[in-house]
Amino acid sequence: MSVANQTNHPTPYYQYDLNVLNNTLQRAKAAADKHGFHVHYALKANTDQHILAAVLNNGFGADCVSGQEVKCALDSGFKAENIAFAGVGKTDAEIDFAIENELFTLNVESLEELEVIAERAKLLGKSANIALRLNPDVNAKTHHYITTGLEENKFGIGEWQLAAVLDVIRANELLHLRGLHFHIGSQITSLEPFKNLCSRIAYFIEFLLTHRFHIQHINAGGGLGINYDVEPNAADPDFESYFQLFADQLQLKPDQALHFELGRSLVAHCGSLMSRVLYVKKGQKTNFLILDAGMTELIRPALYQAYHRIENLSAKTTELEKYDVVGPVCESSDCFGKAIMLPTCQRGDLMAIRAAGAYGEAMASHYNLRKLNESVYLD
Ligand code: LLP
Repeated sequence: MSVANQTNHPTPYYQYDLNVLNNTLQRAKAAADKHGFHVHYALKANTDQHILAAVLNNGFGADCVSGQEVKCALDSGFKAENIAFAGVGKTDAEIDFAIENELFTLNVESLEELEVIAERAKLLGKSANIALRLNPDVNAKTHHYITTGLEENKFGIGEWQLAAVLDVIRANELLHLRGLHFHIGSQITSLEPFKNLCSRIAYFIEFLLTHRFHIQHINAGGGLGINYDVEPNAADPDFESYFQLFADQLQLKPDQALHFELGRSLVAHCGSLMSRVLYVKKGQKTNFLILDAGMTELIRPALYQAYHRIENLSAKTTELEKYDVVGPVCESSDCFGKAIMLPTCQRGDLMAIRAAGAYGEAMASHYNLRKLNESVYLD
């Protein structure tokens, strides 16, 4: 469905504002181009076909974390040479698929995985373009579920093992080391962790040089956070300052390219979860606003205690009332927010849950055999 007939469209559904999306993509691209940086879109945030088409049209590459995402990126028109493939547990079939398609980089997460990649490359008689995902042990200062660059996290190769990893690469001529990869976490709202990441990146580049490896591609990952409390068309986040920080903090050689893998910051603001009020249930202490959308459509509040701004688009008054906004799913964690002030709500009111374009539809489930309706696109 391409045109929104919001009054009749069955709820719940995702609504994507393609103007907001294109504006965000253009702001990000311009800010990165200024420094000659390359941005890969992290498909995990949202694989809606209209979104992927806009991302591709605006000149971004792709970042994937499963064979299915790689396939989706290829089918959507991304060139193999612009696709990075990371993931802490790749199957043999996924590794073979990456090698056969000659992706930009197959990002290696452990010594154990590197050994399997070497074996598969030999079996296929093909070389593998690899990047080493290093665990820089930098605190992203975000929710602990989405922190990935600490020693205690399962991701990446630790510094202690790097020399052994380089020995394996040296001994295998089918392993082509093209890059280093880092990703410290998601929804990072201060630039300080990225500054710390830059000094770790510089350290690792030097470390590799002393082991006689000159690295051409540095991938600093994603993680740039957004402000969940602004209007969808706000100029958020500040891509300029983010890329400027890397330009200032990292002195790369002319033949070294800097890559990023942004997900949330590119697509969060363009998406809203649209839902109707089923019931306003009066309690003794709390009024519950029971929506027809729940944690099955948007799990972020239940999983990370994440905040999403909620609006009543049918409001007939400016008078505010306090509600616990909940979904219909049989779990107490199925709650979008407690003590939320909203203009008086009635059964049937259309509600918008904002900044849901990233990790919303992509993480939706069929729990309780629920089904999401077709998305609506505004352009
Ligand atoms: N690169 C890698 C290797 C990643 O694991 C991720 C996200 C990204 C890039 C993109 O990060 P972004 O720019 O979107 O922060 N479901 C969570 C977020 C999980 C992020 C996982 N990795 C949420 O809803 O907040």
